[in-house]
Amino acid sequence: DIKGEVEQLLERMSLVDKIGQMSQCLASAFSFGGDVDSEPPEKLVADGKVGSILGAFDIRRVFELQKIAVEQSPLRIPLLFNADVIHGHQTIFPVPLAWSCSWDMEEIKRACAIAAKEAAASGITYNHAPMVDITRDARWGRVVEGAGEDPYLGSEIAKAQVEGFQGGSLFDPETIIACLKHFIAYGAAEAGRDYNTVDISEGTLRNVYLPPFRAGLEAGAGSVMNAFNIYQGVPVAGNSYLLRNLLRDELGFEGMLISDYGAIDEIAIHGAAKDGKEAAKLALDATMDIEMVTRQFYDHLPSLIEEGAVQEAQLDAAVRRILTYKFKIGLMDDPFRYVRPEKEIEFHFSAEHLEASRELARKSIVLLKNDGVLPIKQDRKIAVIGPFASSKDLLGPWQFSRYGNETVTLANGLRDKGVELLLAEGCKVTEEIAGGFKKAIEQAKQADVVILALGENSDMSGEAASRMDIGLPEVQLRLAEMVVGLGKPTVLVLTGSRPLVLDWFDKHVDAIVETWFLGSQAGHAIADVLLGDYNPSGKLTMSFPYKVGQAPVYYNHFMTGRPVTEENRTQKFISKYLDGPNEPLYPFGYGLSYTTFTYSEIRLDKVHLSGSDAINLTLSITNTGTVPGEEIVQLYIQDLYGSSVRPVKELKGFRKVRLNAEESKEVRFTITEADLKYYLADGSYKAEPGEFKVYVGPNSRDVQESKFELVK
Ligand code: IFM
Repeated sequence: DIKGEVEQLLERMSLVDKIGQMSQCLASAFSFGGDVDSEPPEKLVADGKVGSILGAFDIRRVFELQKIAVEQSPLRIPLLFNADVIHGHQTIFPVPLAWSCSWDMEEIKRACAIAAKEAAASGITYNHAPMVDITRDARWGRVVEGAGEDPYLGSEIAKAQVEGFQGGSLFDPETIIACLKHFIAYGAAEAGRDYNTVDISEGTLRNVYLPPFRAGLEAGAGSVMNAFNIYQGVPVAGNSYLLRNLLRDELGFEGMLISDYGAIDEIAIHGAAKDGKEAAKLALDATMDIEMVTRQFYDHLPSLIEEGAVQEAQLDAAVRRILTYKFKIGLMDDPFRYVRPEKEIEFHFSAEHLEASRELARKSIVLLKNDGVLPIKQDRKIAVIGPFASSKDLLGPWQFSRYGNETVTLANGLRDKGVELLLAEGCKVTEEIAGGFKKAIEQAKQADVVILALGENSDMSGEAASRMDIGLPEVQLRLAEMVVGLGKPTVLVLTGSRPLVLDWFDKHVDAIVETWFLGSQAGHAIADVLLGDYNPSGKLTMSFPYKVGQAPVYYNHFMTGRPVTEENRTQKFISKYLDGPNEPLYPFGYGLSYTTFTYSEIRLDKVHLSGSDAINLTLSITNTGTVPGEEIVQLYIQDLYGSSVRPVKELKGFRKVRLNAEESKEVRFTITEADLKYYLADGSYKAEPGEFKVYVGPNSRDVQESKFELVK
């Protein structure tokens, strides 16, 4: 009876004990973030002044601090150990933006389950993942951590990740508590600059940014973290409308709400509170439970209570939620149940986990262009040119693996298949190297096929890593121009973490392979694709612009009053650019294969939908090429008119179909009224009668369409 036990413990707690549970410090020397005056973590833990620890990646550190908590703190309450296990703990998987391109929920779930298993064995109990922010602006560095621009796919992936991290039961010592972050609209930072202002409508908040949170909550996520931004002028960390009314009351969230690093302090820095004390009150009133590493709760809750500005019952509610999870995960009975050095040896970087990482890595690769040069025949002389030819910087941001040095490079992945390589770094990611270009040209000249291994390094994305120019660094462009000038068949293999501007490459190279940051097995996965041992099947989850000036560019934009069409493109007073198209270079859902798929006409079994009815949409897909492959068949719907303007298209379903050469399969989608609902301007959530278009295709652009009507 967890409830009863929580109440009994709560009764024994002093105010300091309660505030302690609501405060978190770092595992390192300066226990409150960057605050040199703070007491060390050992002391804070011994005094019961903190209830959780951030960033103890070393099992010995977890053990040390937990021992102090359960032997010295006043009530002997064990600590939670928080960490950012974003795409793997020791075995590193592709970055989330990459794995989202697999559209493979089972594989994503498996990656998260493995990450949880490895992290939990090291004592980590509480994960700062998944990041479920919708990301539409490629300038924002954090797009790398999310699942892209689409709320429907984002929701499916949010669910898979929560299920992966948390398993069937949080009591299982191979699971960790999942935290949905960052609630909410962090991805809408103006101009893609991290921590910048957000100013969006309630409709966009609810129809675009909310769905993945809702899905993650429905999957049972134990925690939510606030976003750094403001909403309607109020920083989310202290925004009662969002946290108390929407998250708690409307969505029914009963888990732990944690503030992002420094976010409570920043309420005052934003100017939405006079000082830290007022910020602490706003955060508590908004139902914040844990303050991550800063100390406004610690410093100010006692006086706020004394003055009657906040009630002890508010603290009790927060502490109840925290203790409930400490009981749920079994810490109260066995504080060391997650400290399992023998399991670390068994799980970390195991052959089985590496195989899973390679599998997901292959599925995350997106083939953006192929004039026929790929797959490369084994007997070709291959030159690999560029800063990522032999680089181990293939894990991406947000990873803390001890095995970084064992990352499989592109060159080694190819060599492992018995290919002899001509190799040259050419330049660094952002700088020239002496004689680099000359050597690169010499090597490339001797080859039958040149692989240009270019990209962004892992510091160029993630938190606080926004870019205003999302092209490749200039030095790499110069290298590419020289290599392309040789006239050899050239393949761009791109490492990176965001949609980049690739229009020059699209015109001048023969093939483009988007490999993102693929993790520990990157080189093997890329080699599998380049040499045809794996037929690429990934599809983009963010649109790739022609030019940075299009950002944010995303497929599910609203209809305008002056939409551009083929016919009116040359007219003046329409919504368009003078110097380029509105559409992206590579749209959402796009990705090629080594085979071809043919879609039959779509068939709807009825064209009127009412009540609890459903429309069955069927079509058949045929592999018309010569090798087996997987196709991701996508279903989009457009609400043609209603009380609010609607997006030109919205993903409502997809199927991943595996087909042998010449094989056909029937694909079926079911459309119900629930698929047509949205938040109207008056706040209601419903489907409005009228006509809808339905589109099916291999991406969001190349679709065939049909129509139906919702009648009431
Ligand atoms: O979990 C992260 C969050 O996503 C951004 N700020 C820091 C936190 C802790 O590392």
